Amino acid sequence: MVVTNICCVGAGYVGGPTCSVIAAKCPDIRVTVVDLSQQRIDAWNSDDFNLPIYEPGLKDVVKECRGRNLFFSTNIDEAINAADIIFISVNTPTKTYGLGKGRAPDLKYIEAAARRIANIATGNKIVVEKSTVPVKAAESIHRILFANTTNGVRFQVLSNPEFLAEGSAINDLMNPDRVLIGGEQSSSGLRAVEELSWVYEHWIPKEKIIKTNTWSSELSKLAANAFLAQRISSINAMSAVCEATGADVGEVAHAIGTDSRLGPKFLQASLGFGGSCFQKDVLNLVYLCEALNLPEVAAYWQQVIDMNDYQRRRFANKVIGCLFNTVTDKTITILGFAFKKNTGDTRESSSIYMCKYLMDEGARLHIYDPQVAQEQIIADLTHRDISEKSERGKFKMATTLETETEWEKVSKLVKIYNNPYEALEGAHAFVVCTEWDEFKELDYLRIYNSMLKPAFAFDGRRILDHDSLKNIGFHVETVGHKTTLKDFLPITP
Ligand code: UDX
Ligand code: ADP
Repeated sequence: MVVTNICCVGAGYVGGPTCSVIAAKCPDIRVTVVDLSQQRIDAWNSDDFNLPIYEPGLKDVVKECRGRNLFFSTNIDEAINAADIIFISVNTPTKTYGLGKGRAPDLKYIEAAARRIANIATGNKIVVEKSTVPVKAAESIHRILFANTTNGVRFQVLSNPEFLAEGSAINDLMNPDRVLIGGEQSSSGLRAVEELSWVYEHWIPKEKIIKTNTWSSELSKLAANAFLAQRISSINAMSAVCEATGADVGEVAHAIGTDSRLGPKFLQASLGFGGSCFQKDVLNLVYLCEALNLPEVAAYWQQVIDMNDYQRRRFANKVIGCLFNTVTDKTITILGFAFKKNTGDTRESSSIYMCKYLMDEGARLHIYDPQVAQEQIIADLTHRDISEKSERGKFKMATTLETETEWEKVSKLVKIYNNPYEALEGAHAFVVCTEWDEFKELDYLRIYNSMLKPAFAFDGRRILDHDSLKNIGFHVETVGHKTTLKDFLPITP
């Protein structure tokens, strides 16, 4: 098969950037990204390139390719039929109901996409799972396709997990550390792997394309995210020890990161990791281990999540503790709502948890984020799955009444701002929840003068210049550093 046409089902954070880069690097291939959401597709097609997701560099790639060999459409059936290769890039959130609630991934979107492909396809196809899925999902997709096809159409199902990180997606896609393709170890399976590999070879050196069996590929994606999340939980665990002893977690991270066996990346202590992948994938791994009757392995990985919950709660408690053990009716400015800088994505953002914990104590919140829309913030703070989530990721069902109460609470306590200085005026404290570069450049003297005294600065990302904040007069608290009496005195050169 010569690949001339690719269809991607799902125009979200994975499908959109991935297919834009494939289109840019493979001008000989027509790439169509389809979605159920007309609104999303309209945004991808908008004249002013007001794309549905914010990702540095994405707009330029879309400008270069859209209408040339990159198309966005809701005509799913037509695109599936025309394609040689179909990527499935639909969402796989953690289940919020039924068996595996709060831990297993919800595969209903994947299954719906697979059934649609089976019903529509009239020619042979390679179906590629790009979304993070549990081990053996390819097998389930294969069974759905096989059981629902009557006209002799043949499918090969490949696992090709995406390793891009939001905020650096375009660079990650253009220069990946590796591309992983898993396939059935049969002659037709291996042929399909080679065909997908050929697409990537347009811009990626062959030696960076790793070919494995399907299950290794599926498990490697979960393992990679679990190892990365584990590093953050490990350094966050150390941050608690630092705060208790007087060691500084930045110095510890630097000291251990220079060991080439450890390396310096992913050792940035914070108020906890967020994002659509880490928690979901580690929980997915825990669920898999339990299903495989490996309770010790499941408990080991569960600790990565428990440590993250602990870190979020611990930092919120620090804010409350420093503000004389009560934040009721105090104004606290939240700087950053996205789960990391350079994205407008808020899924599982630690900011949501911070806001929730502070609202539970009756604090008034002024929220500013350079990319997240007001409606998204309100939705996240009132959404049942977050507002009703208890410790350790277990859910309790909310009644309509409870949800209404959340609405009332949020509308009473939360104000959202488009300008950081306005958000900080009259505040008792601010909390940096996202590491946006612009927060380092703010005029903190002006901010100090506009805040109530004593003015508290809580740096949940360790990005600010703490010495200069202390010199201005702020009481500064951060992750992984013990505050002593000395910290309240001006720094003398
Ligand atoms: C992650 C993986 O990095 C990527 O390979 C995979 O495809 C999807 O999941 P993403 O969630 O987009 O990507 O962002 P990432 O940069 O990994 O950050 C995740 C969270 O960890 C963020 O909240 C970030 O702020 C936090 N983090 C990261 C830390 O707290 N400390 C660090 O040292 C690194
Ligand atoms: P991710 O971060 O995994 O890309 P997103 O939620 O950003 O997740 O994107 C997933 C997209 O998949 C959404 O835009 C959603 O509308 C779309 N989607 C879900 N199910 C289907 C389906 N059966 N057919 C087409 N699109 C789908």
